[in-house]
Amino acid sequence: MLEIVGLKAGYPSGGLVLNDLNISIPRASIVAVLGRNGMGKTTLMRSVCGLLASAGGSILLDGQEIAGRTVFERARAGIGFVPQGREVFADFSVAENLLIGRIAKPGLSPEIPEHLLSLFPILRERWNQRAGSFSGGQQQQLAIARALAGEPRVLLLDEPSEGIQPSIVHQLAGTLRQLVDTTGLTIMMAEQNLDMVAACADTVAFIDHGAIVESGIPAAGIREDRARQAKFLSI
Ligand SMILES: Nc1ncnc2c1ncn2[C@@H]1O[C@H](COP(=O)(O)OP(=O)(O)OP(=O)(O)O)[C@@H](O)[C@H]1O
Ligand SMILES: [Mg+2]
Repeated sequence: MLEIVGLKAGYPSGGLVLNDLNISIPRASIVAVLGRNGMGKTTLMRSVCGLLASAGGSILLDGQEIAGRTVFERARAGIGFVPQGREVFADFSVAENLLIGRIAKPGLSPEIPEHLLSLFPILRERWNQRAGSFSGGQQQQLAIARALAGEPRVLLLDEPSEGIQPSIVHQLAGTLRQLVDTTGLTIMMAEQNLDMVAACADTVAFIDHGAIVESGIPAAGIREDRARQAKFLSI
């Protein structure tokens, strides 16, 4: 569903961060990209959604080239993004945050789909409350729902478990798994939390200094894989 070939990307001040990155995300699956701090996970996410222009390579969404397109064009083509640190609009209510996610994609009606609120019941309960007053876990649910409100085909999640208590991490993993299994959504997730990954991902890819060095590793056994943890993670 998402095919990234030879991707290069970086920053004017820092040179290339991603250098010849290759990864393939099958339809209706969750692939977790694991790697230490500073290895390029966020740079990868931002390059795919178009917030960062790539310097070379190909990004195919369902066979369609999206590298070189604007962030709006990629959203319209079906890319959804939940940034690291969530970035919900703190002064806006749940309803307003979801509406912003909804209208970011042209052609959708302004009504928030009922199934979204069933996935995240807390959002219905707090419909008119300011997002800034929420816990980290509640903000993460809102950020994911905001991205889903734009009806993406591929959802990019940048460290969704960061700063969230373990019980909520587990709940979030279950919700994402349910979404993929029932709707056919495709997810690429950057993570460092092995509990999150083992609870919902199909496979794991490791990123090291801007390149994917191993991929297609079943996520179920990742917590016991001490050798790869020592090699690629700060564990
Ligand atoms: N805006 C920027 N300008 C210059 N260099 C940057 C910028 N953002 C990130 N970098 C550099 O790019 C490299 C990759 O950073 P990136 O944020 O993609 O890593 P990451 O894997 O997401 O790390 P973390 O786990 O801490 O979120 C790092 O060396 C970082 O210092
Ligand atoms: Mg990051």
